[in-house]
Amino acid sequence: MLDKVEALKKEIESFPVSNSDELENFRLEFLSKNGKIQSMFKMIGQVAKEDKAAFGKSMNDLKNLAQDRFDELQSSFASSATAERSAIDDITLTAPLSPVGSLHPLTQTLEEMKSIFYRLGFAISHGPEIEDDFHNFTALNFPPNHPARDEQDTFFVRKSDDPKVDDLVLRTHTSPVQIRLMEKQKPPIRAIMPGRVYRNEAVSPKSYFLFHQVEALYVDENVSVADLKDTLITFAKLMYGNDVKYRLRPGFFPFTEPSLEMDIWWGSKEKGKWLEILGSGMVDPNVFKAAGVDPEKYTGFAWGMGVERIAILKHGIDDIRSFYENDIRFLEQFN
Ligand code: DAH
Repeated sequence: MLDKVEALKKEIESFPVSNSDELENFRLEFLSKNGKIQSMFKMIGQVAKEDKAAFGKSMNDLKNLAQDRFDELQSSFASSATAERSAIDDITLTAPLSPVGSLHPLTQTLEEMKSIFYRLGFAISHGPEIEDDFHNFTALNFPPNHPARDEQDTFFVRKSDDPKVDDLVLRTHTSPVQIRLMEKQKPPIRAIMPGRVYRNEAVSPKSYFLFHQVEALYVDENVSVADLKDTLITFAKLMYGNDVKYRLRPGFFPFTEPSLEMDIWWGSKEKGKWLEILGSGMVDPNVFKAAGVDPEKYTGFAWGMGVERIAILKHGIDDIRSFYENDIRFLEQFN
């Protein structure tokens, strides 16, 4: 029996303890009610009468040994924890700098565009990103088989065979907000309508399946093409400076007649290219009718600008995908 006591003693001395979890294992192994020392105490019945006193004494020594090792380890772990804590509590240490965030370049561009249009007297309006076919296409004078209505260009949310149930789409442009605005507000109307739009396009440096537009609508008596041109040129100058190089070209859209597109020169004087930033035109009378505005009394202009294009020109970005990847090295350049 005394051999067993000796063996347990060695075990207690060599049990590896290097952290407080292991110390708890040590306690369970030796010092707890079901631990090895208590179990061995219970074996006193098997010890010969004359050896009982010696056994009892060596067991007590064993218990003290384990308890001492436990106490010693416990206080050493406690003091290193205090040392750690007091390092944190050192109020003279400089605090780590917290990273500074900034507005996304598209948000910055949009804010700049909005402030220009506020100056020019435009209010702001919003519409839903999930649109019905009527607002996204029909009311905007798209013929029934126009290619934009195709699944190749448009993300459908609901496509119905029942002619009484309208299809639902992710809006392919912000122009449907024009219709919604005219449905709820009588002219004069002068508003911009910024927002996200979606197109079913292959992702490349030049195109992405979502982007942003700023739509505009100005409806009143006697609004003319000259007003449209004047507003667009004023915008280009306020956004890019008085020496901005721009051109207006004829275009075609189902919802405007006549239609114009605006390009801005991208690059240096010698080397560069034209970048289209918007489509625009005089609101087609069919659009006024669909939205409940009298085309005999009112005329109006509208445009849809690409926010990414405006930002690309402002900052010389050459890959549209960088706007959506949230790469901190890209974003940090716009602090
Ligand atoms: N909705 C057109 C597009 O996404 C852009 C556009 C062209 C908007 C002419 C207009 C407009 O309001 O008058 O390509």
